[in-house]
Amino acid sequence: MTETHNPLVGASMWERDLYDHLSTHADTERVLLEEYTAAAKKTESKALEYLVNLLIEDEIRHHRYFEQLAESLKASAELRSDDLPVPMVDFHQVDASAVFEVSDRLLKKEREDAQELKRLQRELRDVKDTTLWSLLVDVMRHDTDKHIAILEFVEKHAR
Ligand SMILES: [Fe+2]
Ligand SMILES: [Fe+2]
Repeated sequence: MTETHNPLVGASMWERDLYDHLSTHADTERVLLEEYTAAAKKTESKALEYLVNLLIEDEIRHHRYFEQLAESLKASAELRSDDLPVPMVDFHQVDASAVFEVSDRLLKKEREDAQELKRLQRELRDVKDTTLWSLLVDVMRHDTDKHIAILEFVEKHAR
């Protein structure tokens, strides 16, 4: 499967370059995804298969992000602001204080979650090389860092 990206009409040089970059990267992500899928199928190791499947979930999402970024750039260059898969930052077009409150509340939960995961990882120290459990908790800690970064963005821009 190959995806074709239509060239941008009426776009600036910067938009055209960025669009090419995003489209190319979306294709790279797709190739990587195919490689992971093949690796998961081929291996006899259940552990490797399990881990590669985790990576596949991420790569599917990365591919989607790149597609959405490219499409959003295209739509905004063509002044189709209703068709943006990635919306504009609109916190101040709505009730910004309500947006701030939600992000602030969720941020507190995520920070608690981060502490909890840290504790859990310490408890799993004895099996950290013989099971995938500690690694999974490590992965969740990275996810939590990501969640915190997202919510901090919201909080900062809704202030
Ligand atoms: Fe990726
Ligand atoms: Fe989270």
